[in-house]
Amino acid sequence: MRIGVPREVQPGERRVALVPDVVARLSGGGFEVVVEREAGGAASFTDASYDGAGAQLVSDAFDVDAVVKVRKPTEAELEKLRDGRVLVGFLEPLTDPDGVEQLAARGVTAFAMESIPRITRAQPMDALSSQSTVSGYKAVLLAAERLPRFFPMLMTAAGTVPPAKVLVLGAGVAGLQAIATARRLGAVVTGFDVRPVVQEQVESLGASFLDLGVRGEETEGGYARELTEAQQRQQQDELAARIPDFDVVITTALIPGRPAPRLIPESAVAAMRPGSVIVDLAAEAGGNCEVTDPGSEVERDGVSVVGLLNLPSTMPYHASQLYARNVAALLQHLAPDGELTLDWDDEITAGACVTRAKAAA
Ligand code: NAI
Repeated sequence: MRIGVPREVQPGERRVALVPDVVARLSGGGFEVVVEREAGGAASFTDASYDGAGAQLVSDAFDVDAVVKVRKPTEAELEKLRDGRVLVGFLEPLTDPDGVEQLAARGVTAFAMESIPRITRAQPMDALSSQSTVSGYKAVLLAAERLPRFFPMLMTAAGTVPPAKVLVLGAGVAGLQAIATARRLGAVVTGFDVRPVVQEQVESLGASFLDLGVRGEETEGGYARELTEAQQRQQQDELAARIPDFDVVITTALIPGRPAPRLIPESAVAAMRPGSVIVDLAAEAGGNCEVTDPGSEVERDGVSVVGLLNLPSTMPYHASQLYARNVAALLQHLAPDGELTLDWDDEITAGACVTRAKAAA
């Protein structure tokens, strides 16, 4: 099976779908990999390193059996995807139904990385987790960089500096990584999530759990169910009262396919101390904070509200390396020994597939 790795063309996207060491592993396992020249440049992977890993460098990586990408295809890329081809990437099936329809119309068999079931067997393919790990880590670094205070407690000849107080809202993969990273930097960390099972995980990382009296439900897939309006109001009121105690708030609360829940009203931002920082990792889905401006950074009443998008792309080397391993695990699942064998009774294959070419039926 011939795999193509195009250079990502979405503005600001620096990741690449396969990295050289993963190319080498696939090449030894029955796959032939072609890589567009400069595809890995923005992530610090040179053409020479792909060449050394056994990839063929080309000017167009779409003339293959399967195209692997990070982001969904642009219009121009869609034009190059021919009938019967396989496509793998973050295809946004829950928020971009038109894009999925276009793929179906072109006869592409498309697998969305975000649709891979979150079951134990599929963990090596779980790109939502790998990229959330990067986001959670980077969110803390952004906050630490903007905060006009230290994170750790310091005892110096000039006196004692108290540690920063960090609150992490939403303790999924990104939130737990943010908690661990903030702890490593020496902050006093508190976490909150509506899924009660998370309390133990938060505490095992050395953070305390904030009890707001709001307990949500978990779906079968382990995701949070959207809160009722009354619960949302209660959560906002409770949070508004607690938030001024914190120097940094990192928010990661998401409900798949829905706008992000509003956790922090403008009034709560106004009540924070000047110099405080909010990093809103849910900005992509509209934001958890009312003040967040997705894609930018705003200052309100002396509080920095960071709503930057696509944080994994700001750490493209490791984000790509982890993503490439996820993609390779999926490819090896779909094409053991390099031969495409699609088993539609398989939970992972059927779950990840968002459009199916007639030939692949
Ligand atoms: P996510 O990115 O969809 O959401 C982030 C967090 O926000 C979740 O923990 C969610 O409970 C929380 N949240 C939603 N509404 C909230 C609100 N109003 N207030 C506060 N928090 C709120 O979640 P993520 O990180 O993708 O993980 C989702 C689930 O998938 C978790 O149960 C996780 O353990 C599970 N999972 C399973 C894996 C596997 O077995 N392969 C791998 C990774 C995650």
